[in-house]
Amino acid sequence: MRVLGIETSCDETGIALYDSERGLLAHALHSQIALHAEYGGVVPELASRDHVRRITPLIEEAIKKADIRLADIDGIAYTQGPGLAGALLVGASMASALAMALDKPLLGVHHLEGHLLSALLSEKLAFPFVALLVSGGHTQLFSVRDVGEYQLLGDTLDDAAGEAFDKTAQLLGLSYPGGAALARLAQLGNRERFHLPRPLIDAPHLDFSFSGLKTAVLVLIKQLEAKKQFDDQARADIAGAFENAVVDVLVSKSLRALKKTGHTQLVIAGGVGANLTLRQRLNERVAGTGMRVVFPDMQFCTDNGAMIALVGALRMAKQGQRDYAFTVRPRWPLTDLCRADQESEKQSCKSLSHN
Ligand code: KG4
Ligand code: ZN
Repeated sequence: MRVLGIETSCDETGIALYDSERGLLAHALHSQIALHAEYGGVVPELASRDHVRRITPLIEEAIKKADIRLADIDGIAYTQGPGLAGALLVGASMASALAMALDKPLLGVHHLEGHLLSALLSEKLAFPFVALLVSGGHTQLFSVRDVGEYQLLGDTLDDAAGEAFDKTAQLLGLSYPGGAALARLAQLGNRERFHLPRPLIDAPHLDFSFSGLKTAVLVLIKQLEAKKQFDDQARADIAGAFENAVVDVLVSKSLRALKKTGHTQLVIAGGVGANLTLRQRLNERVAGTGMRVVFPDMQFCTDNGAMIALVGALRMAKQGQRDYAFTVRPRWPLTDLCRADQESEKQSCKSLSHN
């Protein structure tokens, strides 16, 4: 099964070709970060228009890199949601038009399922595993038993980790989306100078909360400003203290999720998974325990078409459609993918995460 994957949920146009037997054949990506930087966040209308501009050349680029013809594709998968409605519609309509023209099956894919399974692009990984999904909009822990069998173990009660990184970066004067820039700044800082809270780290459940941490940074900045001490060194020291606090919480909850489920493999997915301190701490903590932590390739931590093509290939054998009607789902919880017979497990899992 050779699948073309199309990702346009937010500010990256990602196209890829994945082959069930040979793995990833090629991928092409355009990031709109520069386009939105001056506005301090993604401008939905600009995002949609840029996807329209980029999508066809990127499909041509991926096809060329894979050295195949469009007609050699067995199916087309696109991100159906969650994401920006206009941006999603660009990918969905292109996917549908291509599928109709080529008379191939079409499949709408959940963006977060793409992240959740993205480690399979580069690693041999058997089910089950715990997945920590840390993207710009989500911080969730899942028990992943198979494709489509996901149990939510813990969720963020307010800001996602990536969102907290981005908002704190903004407070430190870094440009959007500041997560990676904050991480770079943290390398220059003295991480012990300031101590920031580790929200919910000792709570027995697996939920997260990061909005208080951002407020703590704001209060600290105001105090330093009043003393005229909010200089470059203070910025770096705050970045270090912030990164330490977030990483401590993510590491602690992930290890607790392994313990609760009895799984021995932990997969990190989503943009914050590119964070080197998180990678290093998790590697240190699992070393010698018999457990294993798996990170997707750096390039597949943030949004990309490869993860969508992968999910398409895994699911399409069972599920592709040929009526070419399409829809997008800007708001779409990943837990909706759990089968009805998992409903009772989901409930028990929820109580697991709250007791
Ligand atoms: O998964 P992703 O590309 O997009 C969503 O689906 O949300 O994640 C983007 C998030 C942003 O919040 C960005 O700041 C964060 O991932 N991020 C990082 C790093 N690289 C990207 N956060 C911390 N450290 C990094 N190195
Ligand atoms: Zn994403």
